[in-house]
Amino acid sequence: MQTKLATSVGITLDRFIKKKQNDFAFASGELSQLLRDIALAGKIIHREVNRAGLLNIGGAYGTENVQGEEQQKLDVIANIRFIRALKNGGEVCAIVSEEDDEILDLNNKDGRYIVSMDPLDGSSNIDVNVSIGTIFSIFRRVSPVGSKVTNEDVLQKGSEQVAAGYLLYGSSTMLVYTTGRGVNGFTYDPSLGEFFLSHADMKIPEDGKIYSINEGSYRSLEPKVQQYIENCKDKKYTARYIGSLVADFHRNLLKGGIYIYPSTDKAPNGKLRLNYECNALAMICEQAGGLATDGKNRILDIQPESLHQRVPFYTGSKKMVEEAMK
Ligand code: AHG
Ligand code: MN
Ligand code: MN
Ligand code: MN
Repeated sequence: MQTKLATSVGITLDRFIKKKQNDFAFASGELSQLLRDIALAGKIIHREVNRAGLLNIGGAYGTENVQGEEQQKLDVIANIRFIRALKNGGEVCAIVSEEDDEILDLNNKDGRYIVSMDPLDGSSNIDVNVSIGTIFSIFRRVSPVGSKVTNEDVLQKGSEQVAAGYLLYGSSTMLVYTTGRGVNGFTYDPSLGEFFLSHADMKIPEDGKIYSINEGSYRSLEPKVQQYIENCKDKKYTARYIGSLVADFHRNLLKGGIYIYPSTDKAPNGKLRLNYECNALAMICEQAGGLATDGKNRILDIQPESLHQRVPFYTGSKKMVEEAMK
């Protein structure tokens, strides 16, 4: 039977946000505007990513970030673009970014929101034309509007997120986000400059047969994780590791699977950062029916102690994460 292609154009992101606006806990339109600001920045990064090879914006920028990583030009460009879009949008008072050591106070006195972001995830894949992404978490500030942004504002548990999501610059560019009432995916149509709803109410399969882990560090993994990998091989599961968290996560969300970045000898607390990688994907995963832990505790319950804190990250299909934690 011929699969019916979606010929009708879906609802735009703008229309969807308007339709759903009353669902937001603080339905004042500010969060809607903030989501639009993020979508705008995503469109700009889509354009830069798709022309990187032509504009000589590939390769290293020549500086190191607080993580000790060599920043790629697109890391820096994406960071600047998101900061500018969120500053101009006016809803955000401060940003925590993978690419900045300290809190970025945007001096938006009326801004009620904090954004924690990984402006470009999967930097090692930029120059080899493999999917990369952006990850963002949105919190309401806890200190009084107009006052100086505090550590308390930016070190909130993931369970306090009012929204979270990611952009995936892949064979198509997608925006996937949640405001705590399910997960919806939008596909960008560059010819129209719009995101259209393409994946409504996304749910991750309860079980799966795909495991994503960098087996290069196998020898330094704790026995429990080594055993889990062996079990996956015994069951003839599929190994898939793109090296861009957003891409691996998105595939597992659609097909079922587990992504693990455990403690390794080089990264005793894992490599991924709680504030702007794990929290956002943990909220998405739970909203889609999956799990996200550090191997023992629910990611969203972890109280952050520092801006760039790393945690081991196990996320994906409920049954697979439960199995990996046994
Ligand atoms: P980023 O590019 O934002 O620093 O994140 C890279 C992360 C994640 O995207 C990916 O899954 C992981 O690093 C890959 O790490 P390894 O190369 O150590 O496997
Ligand atoms: Mn990085
Ligand atoms: Mn990242
Ligand atoms: Mn990054």
